[in-house]
Amino acid sequence: MRIRILGSGAGGGFPQWNCNCANCRAVRAGAPGFLPRTQSSLAVSVNGADWLLLNASPDLREQIAAAPELAPAPDDGLRASPIKAVALTNGDVDHVAGLLNMREAQPFSLYAAGRVLDALGANPIFTILQTQLVPRIELHTEKATPVTGAGIDLGLAIRAFPVPGKIALYLENANAPNFGTSAGDTLGLEIIETATGDSFFYIPGCAKVDADLAERLRDAKLVFFDGTLFHENEMIEQGLLGKTGSRMGHVNVSGADGSIAAFEPLDVKRKIYVHINNSNPLLNEFSDEYATAQAAGWEIGEDGMEVDL
Ligand code: MLT
Ligand code: MN
Ligand code: ZN
Repeated sequence: MRIRILGSGAGGGFPQWNCNCANCRAVRAGAPGFLPRTQSSLAVSVNGADWLLLNASPDLREQIAAAPELAPAPDDGLRASPIKAVALTNGDVDHVAGLLNMREAQPFSLYAAGRVLDALGANPIFTILQTQLVPRIELHTEKATPVTGAGIDLGLAIRAFPVPGKIALYLENANAPNFGTSAGDTLGLEIIETATGDSFFYIPGCAKVDADLAERLRDAKLVFFDGTLFHENEMIEQGLLGKTGSRMGHVNVSGADGSIAAFEPLDVKRKIYVHINNSNPLLNEFSDEYATAQAAGWEIGEDGMEVDL
């Protein structure tokens, strides 16, 4: 399996268009130790020719331009795309808005949880993806769903599983418990290469590493994991937004319940932070936090990073 990080940033990307925080100013100025990052997405392929996208970010057009294997090849037909399928982990804007870049009557398959498909179905802008060309296929949790698209078997299966999380911001109900979140509104995805059984995990949003998730990830070969915030209060302390990591539905990197501590006993062979928010000190390669994460065995995801599994 070939895996490419298309975008390692969280919603807004890095720098974020309207943000003048210290990190965003530094990356805009080209300061050493800071790399720009587009929004949250991965691409996966077995044969290097047909690709599954994990989430479709608002930066998809730019991400395709940076990855020639995702563009039509010179000898392809007049209209063609190597992208044969897209799977969504949730309905967040940074994970679905890229679907709008995929209009123009191109066939591919769309996989997502039932409630995410309902949210897309309730929004007429997504009718631009006609269902005759873009079938919407529900991901049932704990069932390995084979991935096909545009008549092609990608040699992959997706096993989706619910992780602690939060309903998309634009669907929040202020009066309901956990803002109206139901189990399955945030999925983790295990992507399995059918021929070999090899697999990796993609979990860009997760509010807590609970016992079930910890057991599932124990001894995994490769996990891409939610690296949104390093510190629970970093957005508040930087004066950016009055929300903690917990309020946003993201487990923090640091702290007793944070992801560094939670993964420490799990013997995951390779663990890579993705969905990194622009406020996160991990975005500065010279920060103490970057050194702390590296010392704990974590890699900090970068756009264009590729992993062969
Ligand atoms: C998140 O990851 O919490 C969301 O992308 C937030 C948002 O929709 O802006
Ligand atoms: Mn997000
Ligand atoms: Zn910023």
